Amino acid sequence: MRALKTRITSLLGIDYPIVQGGMMWVGRAELASAVSNAGGLGILTALTQPDPGALATEIARCRGMTTKPFGVNLTMLPSVNPPPYERYLDVIINGQVRVLETAGNVPEAYIAKAKAAGVIIIHKCTTVRHAMAAERRGVDVISIDGFECAGHPGSEDVGGLVLIPAAANKLTIPLIASGGIGDGRGLAAALVLGADGVNMGTRFCATREAPIHENIKQMMVDKTESDTNLILRTLNNTGRCLKNAISDEVVFREHQPGGVPFKDIAHLVAGARGRKILESGDIEDGLVWGGQVVGLIHDIPTCHELLQRMVKQAQERLALASAWLLQ
Ligand SMILES: Cc1cc2nc3c(=O)[nH]c(=O)nc-3n(C[C@H](O)[C@H](O)[C@H](O)COP(=O)(O)O)c2cc1C
Repeated sequence: MRALKTRITSLLGIDYPIVQGGMMWVGRAELASAVSNAGGLGILTALTQPDPGALATEIARCRGMTTKPFGVNLTMLPSVNPPPYERYLDVIINGQVRVLETAGNVPEAYIAKAKAAGVIIIHKCTTVRHAMAAERRGVDVISIDGFECAGHPGSEDVGGLVLIPAAANKLTIPLIASGGIGDGRGLAAALVLGADGVNMGTRFCATREAPIHENIKQMMVDKTESDTNLILRTLNNTGRCLKNAISDEVVFREHQPGGVPFKDIAHLVAGARGRKILESGDIEDGLVWGGQVVGLIHDIPTCHELLQRMVKQAQERLALASAWLLQ
């Protein structure tokens, strides 16, 4: 395979400019190490581990499965009982993890602490405004999530086709395009739009190594690009997940006159319920986070197969586009 080198591959020490974003309950050592071994950057998800000590064990487990660089995601969302974020951060630093992916509201002191320890920080956000603020605060890379993405797309609803070049116009640090990318065409497009690499979540859920039930992977193969729901919009916490009985029910209740208070749908959206179905495979019994890119997912390859064909297809597309210049 010919190389595909960008600022991201040099900075992160990886072969291909492809990152696996943090994913609650999915971002464990099996997946992160498989992505890193395939030449991308795999990322563990800190809060999937019940406490900082368990994260230290997971980092050691991942290191036992790959000699390549990998990262850890630390997502900081407002919470009634916030996790001990700083202790998780200390474990990441002490575990000599090369890359930290942050999302949500990251205190300036945490950025300074990680940087002082030599950790490369990728900050993921959904607006150019937030990306510029993070650059000013000293993060090394921005990962910008377009409206197509799984998880939390924010509230401004700007798709990648505009968001990626808009971010590239304003930033000087490397940029990773995230949301809606699932094949080599998406990778090529992102690079042409001004990104230095791509981040994928949903596509990596439907790989052989993703540590989730086969029914969930098959669900991603079966769904189309029209099969996602935006939940919790009325509560200012928009999340994109796959259509099923539970997400349909949440949307239905939110659209009743007067809306719905969170306490009446909390049992439907509970993280523990989502975790359970990833293990049980009962695809109608909890939320399954997933983006519009499910419409481009037609099989369940290994991470190695996925990255090889993505890079090959991206190179073919870029060559095809360059050939148009010669006509
Ligand atoms: C199952 C799942 C869980 C996710 N959990 C998190 C999370 O805990 N923290 C985070 O920053 N992003 C999370 N994401 C978002 C991904 O890291 C990534 O930004 C997003 O999936 C990109 O869009 P795509 O799915 O279209 O590739 C999650 C995505 C999925 C599919």
